[in-house]
Amino acid sequence: MRNDVKLDKWSISAESKGWADDFLESVFFTGNGRMGARGYLTFEPYPRPEKNGLFIAGIFGELKLGITDFVNLPTPLYAWVNIDGHRAGEDDVYVYRTLNLHNGLFTGEYILHCAGKSLQIREERFFSLSNTGLLVQRVTLTPCEEMDLELFCGVHTDCCNLPVPDDQTQKNTQTVQLTEVRQKSFSDNGFTVHLVTNGTEIKISENITYHMENLRCRGTFENDIGTGFVFAGSGSAPFVIEQCVFLPTSRDKDPRIHEVGSNWNFDTLLRESESAWSQRWQSANIQIEGDRQADAALRYVVFELIANNSAKDSSVSIGARGLTHTRYKGCYFWDTEIFIMPFYLYTAPEAARNLMQYRTDALPQAKKHAQEMNCLGARYPWMASYDGSEQCESWDIGASELHVTADVVHALNQYVQTTGDEEFYLHEAAKVYIEAARFWQSRYTPEPGTEKVNLLFCKGPDEYCGITSNNLYTNVLVKENLKLAQDAADYLYQYDRPAYLRLGITAEEVECWSTLEHSIKLPKDPVSGHWRQDDTFHLLEPIRISDLKQGDTASYNCVCFDRLQRYRVIKQADVLLLMTRLPNMFTSEEKLAAWKDFEPLCLHDSTLSFASHALLAAQNGLMDAAQYYFKKAAFLDLRDVMENTGTEGLHLACLGETWQAAVIGFGGLTFQNGVPELKPHLPPDWKSMRFRFFYRGKQYEADLRQDHNSLREV
Ligand code: BGC
Repeated sequence: MRNDVKLDKWSISAESKGWADDFLESVFFTGNGRMGARGYLTFEPYPRPEKNGLFIAGIFGELKLGITDFVNLPTPLYAWVNIDGHRAGEDDVYVYRTLNLHNGLFTGEYILHCAGKSLQIREERFFSLSNTGLLVQRVTLTPCEEMDLELFCGVHTDCCNLPVPDDQTQKNTQTVQLTEVRQKSFSDNGFTVHLVTNGTEIKISENITYHMENLRCRGTFENDIGTGFVFAGSGSAPFVIEQCVFLPTSRDKDPRIHEVGSNWNFDTLLRESESAWSQRWQSANIQIEGDRQADAALRYVVFELIANNSAKDSSVSIGARGLTHTRYKGCYFWDTEIFIMPFYLYTAPEAARNLMQYRTDALPQAKKHAQEMNCLGARYPWMASYDGSEQCESWDIGASELHVTADVVHALNQYVQTTGDEEFYLHEAAKVYIEAARFWQSRYTPEPGTEKVNLLFCKGPDEYCGITSNNLYTNVLVKENLKLAQDAADYLYQYDRPAYLRLGITAEEVECWSTLEHSIKLPKDPVSGHWRQDDTFHLLEPIRISDLKQGDTASYNCVCFDRLQRYRVIKQADVLLLMTRLPNMFTSEEKLAAWKDFEPLCLHDSTLSFASHALLAAQNGLMDAAQYYFKKAAFLDLRDVMENTGTEGLHLACLGETWQAAVIGFGGLTFQNGVPELKPHLPPDWKSMRFRFFYRGKQYEADLRQDHNSLREV
């Protein structure tokens, strides 16, 4: 746990000693969704090329045949100074970081020392939300006495990746260079570096222009660690240098990316970006009166959800750590569909559509994956790279976590139901429902001598259940999928016969989906009648949770995976998660019984877990538990609750689920027969909670108080 990040209504700040601080660098990530950077410092004297880089959504390079990593790109946030001819920057540095949540402006302030002289540095950077091709930085250097100054600004072309093994208990020390500099060119006030990624051959340009006052350009330099410009001056007046970096790539789809003319300036570009942020905040801000910490933490959650989503690009999704780290090779998981997407669905439906389209466009790869797994139809991979291919190198998890396909269908349906986007349903979603149904048809095994089928060799969300059969979460969502596929077939038959024929649907096949839907078993305890997680969970060896872990860090750090698979413990919400997603399918009694059965057994070893528990507890009026888990989730990264925010980056699924715990849980947002309703359970000290959401083309504002609520169209 760390308590050094201070939260204000619209900003976070922290003071720290020393240059490198992985935790603060994760928490102070800023970006515009298309790209972003961790909160490291431009003048760090010993830059860590495997950490201080830049991320652009969708830029992956090949580590080995078929396996990619999210590229840590060469960074233009890179400079150093000579004071009176000597390189400045001693180890003892005090840094003050702030992140303005209203406009994404990161500020780092510190003093560089050299031979008895001191130079104050203030660096301010933002990634423009109005022109998502731009990274803009202003550095103010204030000498504390007379000095000769040389400033070197460039691109750190040595930036590389330190691939993280899929098995989180293994460490790697071998770095890999995933970009190659193809060309450099200089102009009077800047330069361009042309890069290409390994294997995937994606082209990226970093076009940098500088504006400066009082500084005399002395020429260019090139050496083995950088490429850039040198500026020189002397005196004690502050020097200001502004830097604008335009970063196009060969796979851009975002219409907001455009080059700027030479007369740009930092303040104007910041104002333009700020107005895009203001607009975004109008639909996304949540205001809580009575709990300033929750109010501020939620604002941070929303900020990072926006800063990590390339909202206008359907060719990318959101990695498990967004743009903040290469953990999980930057891959896209079910995290997006189940945990993250709803935030966009209700606050920026176009962004949700793009996330959904990423999956519908990846249907050919999902079909190929099903074929490789000797099945029919389409199977979405456990860990998807930008091209939709499976990247999981651990065969058991990759092969057995089947639920991702049902999760994709569930999210597509949630998108269609919430927006009423019929065109998307007809042309995009319906065919996924159908191909997924074909996959399930080929993946279930008929049970000899009965009319039933079993889902064998599967793992649900709880990754500590061993490899089991008939995971309830998966089976329920598959039934939903099969029903949607039947409806889609009927719909296409009626409204788009050519598509029906193109997809090769037959009445017999649709009948088979119906039979399958009714043959799927949902495991229940025969004595108590309570829902079971799967067919084997009750056979596992009981153990006290406190024997496996005391604090909040994951137990797999000290107990091996194999052993964990045989204890009756849960890694993360599984049955309880299902009950939050389909709350009307279960009675209150069933939900409370499941809470009693499963909550005490949960280790919360995944960051996806706390917020789902908060959500279920809030939906069901278990207020003490709801508040306890909400706090863990809302501060998971801000306080480094699981002690892995620094080493792994921000946990996007936790951020998304925290938003759901607030709005769907405490706020009780629900939809009955096409009409939004509120069934709130506000924590007692929350005087009010206000938020906006979109539903079927209209925007609403919810104003919740302890004694009354209002919901109005805006
Ligand atoms: C969780 C998965 C999750 C993945 C990426 C794992 O620890 O168990 O459910 O998809 O992390 O966030």
